[in-house]
Amino acid sequence: MHGPYDIPYTAMFLIESPNPLPIHKLSQSIMKVGCFMNNSYLDCLAVLGVGGAHPGGLKLTKELLAQEKMNESTKILDAGCGTGQTSAYIAKKYGCDVTALDQNKIMVEKANKRFLAEEISIKAIEGTMENLPFANDSFDFILSESVMLFTNITQSITELKRVLKPGGKLLAIEMVRKKKMNDAELVTLKSFYENTHFHSEEEWKQTLNQAKFKVIQVDKPEVQFDPENLDTAPEYSLSKSVDPVYFEMMKAHEEMLELYKNKLSFCVFKCTK
Ligand SMILES: C[S@@+](CC[C@H](N)C(=O)[O-])C[C@H]1O[C@@H](n2cnc3c(N)ncnc32)[C@H](O)[C@@H]1O
Repeated sequence: MHGPYDIPYTAMFLIESPNPLPIHKLSQSIMKVGCFMNNSYLDCLAVLGVGGAHPGGLKLTKELLAQEKMNESTKILDAGCGTGQTSAYIAKKYGCDVTALDQNKIMVEKANKRFLAEEISIKAIEGTMENLPFANDSFDFILSESVMLFTNITQSITELKRVLKPGGKLLAIEMVRKKKMNDAELVTLKSFYENTHFHSEEEWKQTLNQAKFKVIQVDKPEVQFDPENLDTAPEYSLSKSVDPVYFEMMKAHEEMLELYKNKLSFCVFKCTK
């Protein structure tokens, strides 16, 4: 339980900052960011079983995949697969040989439950992007949808490069920082999203280039929630018992995105090895 005397540390930081965010825009949820310190955003996604947990949701994924050539002989890694929504779609639509991996046990269980229910022969694996349990040159294609920002980026990109076949393709949807942020803004974001990295587009490109990926295209698609199209909305697969704090966190996440909409955006990075 979070009592009235919990210190909303980040809110204090904002107030004290010489260059604060407009405090009047911070709703109660955001003010409570400091109260979520014992709960991780990634655990929140896992417990609520959020699928399509990336900008653009499944709709964008479908559009991006439609631009690629893939078939039954294509070996794909869905790195940071979450609840396995994208993996299941690829297996059903293109018949590819899909490997799904995530570091979160609950996510892996939910992905496997989905695959079983949909009679898809994928077995999600628990593992980390920084130390992938695959041989060199294993995959023709790697998809990473809103995952690398939560990892040790240099290590995970090096690993993705190692397991991708020569000539293979990496498609990564990543959050980007559009504008410089002050300390208060960064502290607020980092205390909510923990060790998340808020790279600019240039920083992402540099890191990918340093790992000797060739960045062949960077797209900035427009995405919008469409109430008529379920693929634009996240889906939920709740755990049996959910601490109500996770609903509060999800609300705070949505408010955070709204508050930072002029500073944060996302890009689709298409790279070859
Ligand atoms: C925002 S969710 C995206 C999930 C999925 N790609 C989707 O679009 O629905 C981020 C996912 O990355 C996973 N993740 C975070 N850090 C990771 C790491 N170091 N290695 C593997 N998976 C990781 C989380 O467990 C979570 O499932």
